[in-house]
Amino acid sequence: MRGLVLLCLFGTVLGHKWDESFKSFEWLGSDEEPQESDPKPDSLCQEDRSSCECCQMLKQIHRVEELFNRSMAALQHNLKIAQSALKKIRAQRSAFSVVLGDAYCIGPNSNDKIVVYTTILVGDGYDMSTGVFTAPLTGLYSLAVTVYTITERMWQSLTSCATLSVNNVPVASVRDLGKGDNQDSASIAVVLNLKAGDRVFVLLPSHCMLCSDQNTFTGFLLYATD
Ligand SMILES: *[C@@H]1O[C@H](CO)[C@@H](O)[C@H](O)[C@H]1NC(C)=O
Repeated sequence: MRGLVLLCLFGTVLGHKWDESFKSFEWLGSDEEPQESDPKPDSLCQEDRSSCECCQMLKQIHRVEELFNRSMAALQHNLKIAQSALKKIRAQRSAFSVVLGDAYCIGPNSNDKIVVYTTILVGDGYDMSTGVFTAPLTGLYSLAVTVYTITERMWQSLTSCATLSVNNVPVASVRDLGKGDNQDSASIAVVLNLKAGDRVFVLLPSHCMLCSDQNTFTGFLLYATD
């Protein structure tokens, strides 16, 4: 009988399908009385103890396989969710950084004017012909502006200033009046909720000046919210 158990398990180990192994076991049990056989493990156990042990083992293996299949299915489901989240995050990247040219001054003007930065360091979304960054996605953005002015002549009146605007609405302003020094600088750093299509730019107010490549305008999407 021990031989039977081994044979039975051997079949399973060899990669026979569970159903086939189980059927062949049932067939052994029901051979003598094909119509009236009772496959209940209890009565079977009374008739043939070793066959019963084999049957219990196969049932156990079946249970483990079911559990394994369920865990595997759950893992595959979660992997799919993670992969699509990653894909979405990758599609939602946005960053730009622009700078004014070296030895380049703009202003003072009699009217407010959009600062058109001359060099793109990183990214797109910034229009070099208009000086406007258009938000590609709705979300939370980090935006930073640094202004700087220098003059060789100490007595020249200097004002370094700028206004960060979204859709023509001022969001933050800096202003450094030059009195007695020949360098002025200031910075803006904000985090803003922007909608896709919002137009962000740096405005140079009238009578203000910006000089050199220490003037930068930087923005990036922290995370999308749509
Ligand atoms: C486990 O999954 C395999 C592959 O899909 C399948 O052939 C087998 O019948 C499953 N086993 C159980 C116990 O559900």
